[in-house]
Amino acid sequence: MAKKTIGLLTGGGDCPGLNAVIRAVVRSSLGRGWKVLGFEDGFHGVVEDVPPIPLDLAAVRGILDRGGTILGTSNKANPFSYPVRRGDAWTNEDVSDAAVDRLRRLGVEWLVCIGGDGTLQIAHGLAAKGMRVVGCPKTIDNDLSETDVTFGFDTARSTATDAVGKLHTTAESHDRVMLLEVMGRNAGHLALHAAIAGGADAVLIPEIPYEVGALVRMIRRRKEAGRSFAIVVVAEGAHPRGGEVSVAEAAEAIRGRGVVRLGGAGKVAADLLSERITEHEIRVTVLGHLARGGTPTAYDRILGSRFGCRAVELIDQGLGDHMVALHGNDVVPVPLGRASKTRLVDVDGELVRDARNLGIVFGDEG
Ligand code: F6P
Repeated sequence: MAKKTIGLLTGGGDCPGLNAVIRAVVRSSLGRGWKVLGFEDGFHGVVEDVPPIPLDLAAVRGILDRGGTILGTSNKANPFSYPVRRGDAWTNEDVSDAAVDRLRRLGVEWLVCIGGDGTLQIAHGLAAKGMRVVGCPKTIDNDLSETDVTFGFDTARSTATDAVGKLHTTAESHDRVMLLEVMGRNAGHLALHAAIAGGADAVLIPEIPYEVGALVRMIRRRKEAGRSFAIVVVAEGAHPRGGEVSVAEAAEAIRGRGVVRLGGAGKVAADLLSERITEHEIRVTVLGHLARGGTPTAYDRILGSRFGCRAVELIDQGLGDHMVALHGNDVVPVPLGRASKTRLVDVDGELVRDARNLGIVFGDEG
């Protein structure tokens, strides 16, 4: 079997399970007699003149249960729009040809890109320039089209569910309305799953703009029934009907990123509630990046390991410009070009219907 050199990087926001994929790619590749080079901090490591790390068995020992990524990551390093300093100013330039040249000079024949929609789109762009690329989809948001599940999501929803549970006891002790803001800029999968698993009373998601009146009615109904507290899970992309998403930092302020940083959706909902509700104190907790940390669940370790092993099988089969994806119970190849769409919560789907049947309020109830 011909000896191959595989490049490996993690791009975009980190999530639990990345190290399981790295370990699986390395172990499967070494088992075939191939060599693996790890590029640090996403595409920074490909563009900048930083030597890649040779990944042997020792390099991936003991990392299966570690959160984050041993390779580091970046959500700002896009070779097609890369921040470059020109004098005193920063501009974004297309350095993708130089990136592909560098990979070739290093002898990298295949590049495995582990990341979310941004990273997978970059991978597809490099494939169009002749690089042989395989993608592995990750995100705690679980909002990538073409895969039923992304690794990282299961750990994040466990963390968020745990937070909902912890808020219950303090909310009940103080007769408070507690709002938990969780990540989820475009899609509310994390908020919805945590609300169902944690037994929350309401969930606000980007797909269903809310009216605060529906929350007020739910809180009053509960009080009449002798339940003087309520838990509301709020996705960071949630917004009132006719209102805007809450922005923490504008896109222009984040060099090389091009997308806004969200934050404050929980506070907006709390402020709207406090105009109408005086009988309860209202508190907001922001889970934020805690959902991205911690040791991956068994599910995420297994899915990450399966994705990593399958990515190497695709290389073995010569199938470039594809990513691995979970369809039902099977890990299958999907063309990278199809991977750029966001998978939103199906607002007419079974899970939303079940949540409503469980009594969870979405804020669109008349
Ligand atoms: O992984 C996606 C995500 O979790 C989004 O839900 C969130 O808006 C974003 O990451 C925040 O990323 P960062 O703070 O690292 O830029």
